[in-house]
Amino acid sequence: MPDLYRPSWVMVALSLLFSLVPFTLATSVLQYWRLRKIPGPPAAAWTNLWLMWQMNRKESFYETRKRLHQRYGPVQRYGPNRVMFSDLSAVPVILGTTNILPKASNHEPLKAWVNGSEVLSFVALTDDAKAARLKRNLHATFSSHGVLGYEAHVDHTVSELVGHLQTAGSMVDLADWLSWFAFDTVARIGFSEDQGFMSRRQDVDGALEAGRRRFEHWNFWWTLPSLEGLIYKNWVARNRKKSRSSIMRLAMQVVERRKAKGGLGTHNDLLDLYMQSAESDPQLFSPSTILGLTITTMQAGAETTAYSTAICMFCLVRDKHVLAKLRAEIESVAPPTAEGWDLPPTAVLRKLPYLEACIKESGRLYPSINIMLERTVTDGHEDIAGVHVPKGTIVAINTAGLNTNPNIYGADFETYRPERWLEGSEEQRILMNRANLAFSAGKRMCLGINVAWLEMRKAISALVMNFEMELAYPERGLKQMPGIFGYAEEVKVNIWPRRQDTKV
Ligand code: HEM
Repeated sequence: MPDLYRPSWVMVALSLLFSLVPFTLATSVLQYWRLRKIPGPPAAAWTNLWLMWQMNRKESFYETRKRLHQRYGPVQRYGPNRVMFSDLSAVPVILGTTNILPKASNHEPLKAWVNGSEVLSFVALTDDAKAARLKRNLHATFSSHGVLGYEAHVDHTVSELVGHLQTAGSMVDLADWLSWFAFDTVARIGFSEDQGFMSRRQDVDGALEAGRRRFEHWNFWWTLPSLEGLIYKNWVARNRKKSRSSIMRLAMQVVERRKAKGGLGTHNDLLDLYMQSAESDPQLFSPSTILGLTITTMQAGAETTAYSTAICMFCLVRDKHVLAKLRAEIESVAPPTAEGWDLPPTAVLRKLPYLEACIKESGRLYPSINIMLERTVTDGHEDIAGVHVPKGTIVAINTAGLNTNPNIYGADFETYRPERWLEGSEEQRILMNRANLAFSAGKRMCLGINVAWLEMRKAISALVMNFEMELAYPERGLKQMPGIFGYAEEVKVNIWPRRQDTKV
């Protein structure tokens, strides 16, 4: 063939480029046009790079979401195909209980594969029918009554936390201590093992760090799930025999150790529950699902509870008036005796409205989750809060907008004031509770909410009753990390025992 007719690579590349450019342009214009009436930053209407940049800046995306709400009102466009609502009437549609909108494709980067099988991540599970079947099996154990079966595990780690803090020195970082506490607690509830984070005063085998890196990965690839799949979930990566993640390796070892110790029926913990479920439904609770549930328990359950507790402690220590009021409430049901102070059972702590209000208020003002819980619009759900949103659009609730809405929380919404949850008309309180999405809402809301409340109530009561504390650096304020979770960078306090003879 003469050279003239032989296709050169340059020619092929040029023709590809010339056909791709108009295609990309046409798609962008079409996407722009579909949602053109919804206000938002101009760059966001054209490219997801705007969102990618916002999510990877030093400032948390939660702060950006506050500004979007203030600037554009209750409905904001934050991507070519993305719309966010800070309108309460959108909650039952986006985070509904029936005919629910599926989780959006942004969850893909959180998924993991080992040895040719997908290891289930409950949070990232996009198959809602499967999630519902899993939840049906686990519901009784995670219910407010069911979690009391694990109360002894929490009492054990709370007692350990108090013991360590009595000798840890005059200044401690509660952010670290509560991370270690929460991981040790979840390891006990999850698989009856003592991971020794508190006793060693460190992140053992980098498990916390590995969890954080996994969420950083998710945050980075949030807007580019397909490209992430191509790079990290290709055939070679999916069939890797060993996982590179230390948290995955830890979960694999935990499951193997349990089998060696006799397996099913030998312990009172979540792993035993997952194994029991596998007996009744082996197809649903396959080995990789059990492994995935073990990882989810550690990842979804440890850090979230840790920094929600640490941030609440920051608020309490900063505000002496609130702290005194909370102590008085706890003392009214559990007064210290000459022998010390005994940690009351959860059934008693659940009846303390001010304790609950203190936790809800810190979660409102400094939420532990920076990002939005995205869903995809399906047939029959195109009208949300009076706005037409075409099928296929990614939608979310702007919790930053809800949490700072004066009509819901009052004109002083920027102040830490737990009283707001207890005073006011019943109508107002119902409104606040509906707007409180710390654990999400609807069918896919947090499975571990009752575990988290059990831990937070116990740890906070024990710290408040056993120690005097003051912020070591009050001028620094609270610094939350950007990314998926708003970890408290540090909560350094000067600390000393309230009574020498206290015990838990
Ligand atoms: C203060 C602590 C916690 C907070 C703020 C929290 C928050 C959340 C939120 C907002 C979601 C919804 C995510 C989404 O819709 O994409 C979620 C899901 C989930 N959480 Fe939690 N969580 C906490 C503690 C826990 C604990 C202790 C466990 C388990 C022991 C747990 C297990 C789960 C699971 C399994 C899901 C997935 C549920 C589903 O997708 O249907 N969480 N959590």
